[in-house]
Amino acid sequence: MSDANFDARALRNAFGSFPTGVTVVTAHDPAGQPIGFTANSFTSVSLDPPLLLVCLAKTSRNFAVMTEAHGFAVNILSETQKDVSNTFARPVEDRFSAVEWKAGPHGAPVFDHTAAWFDCSMEQVIEAGDHVILMGRVRAFADNGLNGLGYAKGSYFTPALAGKAVSAAADGAVELSAVLERNGSVLMLGDERLSLPSCAMDDADPPATLGAYLKELTGLPVSVGFLYSVYESRTDGRQHIVYRASGGEGSPQKVASSNPPT
Ligand SMILES: Cc1cc2nc3c(=O)[nH]c(=O)nc-3n(C[C@H](O)[C@H](O)[C@H](O)COP(=O)(O)O)c2cc1C
Repeated sequence: MSDANFDARALRNAFGSFPTGVTVVTAHDPAGQPIGFTANSFTSVSLDPPLLLVCLAKTSRNFAVMTEAHGFAVNILSETQKDVSNTFARPVEDRFSAVEWKAGPHGAPVFDHTAAWFDCSMEQVIEAGDHVILMGRVRAFADNGLNGLGYAKGSYFTPALAGKAVSAAADGAVELSAVLERNGSVLMLGDERLSLPSCAMDDADPPATLGAYLKELTGLPVSVGFLYSVYESRTDGRQHIVYRASGGEGSPQKVASSNPPT
């Protein structure tokens, strides 16, 4: 696409193909109450002086408070903090009851169990279309040595899950499955009892094996994405590696369409 009137969703999806970490940006309102929102637009900017930035939507309920705050903190979420990310992205009444936090050395709320945090003074608020860029000067930080939570194409991914998949694959008898999405629905197999499309792992490249199987099964172009889950089944005692996958245009064969994923 190369027109000024881009389809907003298509542009958003294309931006979303850039894998990022996930942060929660926090501050205090004038009454001293903590506020915060999930953001993946974090970027480190400069070492000397120490600067970072995050983009804030003008539609944010916290827009006025955030842009007038004398500082803010960026909490880099660790791979166990998917729930924290979801809480701070939804209109939850008391978002801060979901985390253990304290005021950082410069005053903004910093969370426990993060990969890292940066407590900043407000350096600049820069106009940027339907967002503003909050540029912060780092006044204090902590690096907790934990793996960060990853985010791409609307899904979370974690280094730990990838490691688990590698050891499961080394175990031998592995079943590969897919949460196969297409036009907002998950494609399942079966009539009364629905199940995820699955195949045995027969070589060292699980996504390629699964992709070829799904293509053959559905007749659709399929792209296999990030890991969804890795587990050992109590029923069959086998290792299961589940990937996210998306199906392209065309009419799927042999599969039933379930409700949209939650
Ligand atoms: C992974 C993820 C990343 C997000 N990144 C941003 C971002 O960088 N900037 C932003 O303004 N909103 C971002 N959002 C959306 C906000 O977190 C969401 O709109 C939130 O409800 C805003 O809260 P507020 O209106 O209380 O400020 C993101 C959401 C998710 C799930």
